[in-house]
Amino acid sequence: MKKIITVAVIGAGARGNAYTGCMLDRPDEFKVVAICDKNEKRVANMAKRLGVDNNGLYYNEDEFFKEKRADLLIVATQDQDHVGHAIKGLELGYDILTEKPISNKEEECRQLLDAQRKAGRKVFVCHVLRYAPAFVKMKELIDCKLIGETVMIDVIEQVWYFHQAHSYVRGNWRRTEDTSPMIIAKCCHDLDILQWYANSRCESISSIGDLRFFKKENQPEGASDRCCDCKYKQTCPYSAVEGYKLEGGKWGASYVTDVRPVTQEAIDYALKTGPYGRCVFASDNDAVDNQIVTMRFENGITANLRMTGFTHGGGRIVKVYGTYGELVLEGDYIKVKVFGKKTEEILIKDLMEGNYAHGGGDGGLISALYGMLTGETEERTSLSASVESHLMGFAAEKSRLNGGMLVKIEH
Ligand SMILES: NC(=O)c1ccc[n+]([C@@H]2O[C@H](COP(=O)([O-])OP(=O)(O)OC[C@H]3O[C@@H](n4cnc5c(N)ncnc54)[C@H](O)[C@@H]3O)[C@@H](O)[C@H]2O)c1
Repeated sequence: MKKIITVAVIGAGARGNAYTGCMLDRPDEFKVVAICDKNEKRVANMAKRLGVDNNGLYYNEDEFFKEKRADLLIVATQDQDHVGHAIKGLELGYDILTEKPISNKEEECRQLLDAQRKAGRKVFVCHVLRYAPAFVKMKELIDCKLIGETVMIDVIEQVWYFHQAHSYVRGNWRRTEDTSPMIIAKCCHDLDILQWYANSRCESISSIGDLRFFKKENQPEGASDRCCDCKYKQTCPYSAVEGYKLEGGKWGASYVTDVRPVTQEAIDYALKTGPYGRCVFASDNDAVDNQIVTMRFENGITANLRMTGFTHGGGRIVKVYGTYGELVLEGDYIKVKVFGKKTEEILIKDLMEGNYAHGGGDGGLISALYGMLTGETEERTSLSASVESHLMGFAAEKSRLNGGMLVKIEH
């Protein structure tokens, strides 16, 4: 019989639920036995969903970290707490699956690397795109040199307009000072993909970008600071009333209230009193809504990343330009355009198993995790590679704040 890996999770929010939800589908591999969150409702909701006993429930991290509670610790708290929680876990002897970003501080990323080396345990960062079938296929196509040698890579991180409003105007990642800058919070995935595809460390980087639109000066005349009182609540595309409504809303209403099952009454209350009911032009946000990053890798490959919060449908577009062809990942297809040959199309749906979020990345990560923890399969990426992509992000932000100056990356 297979060994079942026991799991403890700190952070019973959206991400903690996403990974443990995937684990529910693999009962012969994982069993969640301990949950810690300072929000009691979230602990109760997750415990009910996963069937965790009362003696495995914690509401205080000090109590939770008194002892090792399982084999694996999932760290799904907020950005600024990942390293602290992961290091406590390593000291207790856990293997760790930690959410990205590792940290918004370079020195903390390096501290985690040191702690991992000292503890000799495994640490995986949730760079879910490394496990998403379409992104994995692109890597295979690059590495088999079907398009010759890679010269340039172009990524567009198209943040869906309501995702921008939810996360980076009203929500958790709206204020850089309290969390991480956009280039780390959202784009650490893109930077990780870029260094993976380039197969090289980044040498230098520059960036420009700003918060253009979601500011008081752009609030339409006569608009209210809360959507529920606003005369534009039915017509504004950013309206929280329309966006979070129970039937036919744009974004999961479970993100704005902890009441389960979610009711329209609970949503209305959350929008009247909580952060997600604010007008997008009257929040306290400073996260950028557009940013461009240009990079040169040590092996000579150049790359370009554009992040925009103004897109109709979201999703990443990746183009890889090689000496004998192009690869394009966009929408439902990967297009293989070898020069002088007919374009071949790969339907991404055909590469997927199951229907998990992040292009199959969440499910792909949990499906790969068991083998990586038991040593049966090779680790897809390392903590030091994850740290490298964060160094790119820190350097890009330094450049952006200094008018786009070129920053050399110190590895
Ligand atoms: N890998 C990805 O693609 C991806 C996608 C989205 C978010 N994230 C990252 O996942 C992390 C969590 O995001 P989320 O959307 O789940 O946030 P969330 O706010 O829904 O969940 C975080 C939970 O942690 C709990 N918490 C915070 N501090 C705690 C403490 N000291 N002790 C116990 N519980 C504590 C909160 O009460 C909350 O329930 C963030 O760092 C985010 O950047 C990653």
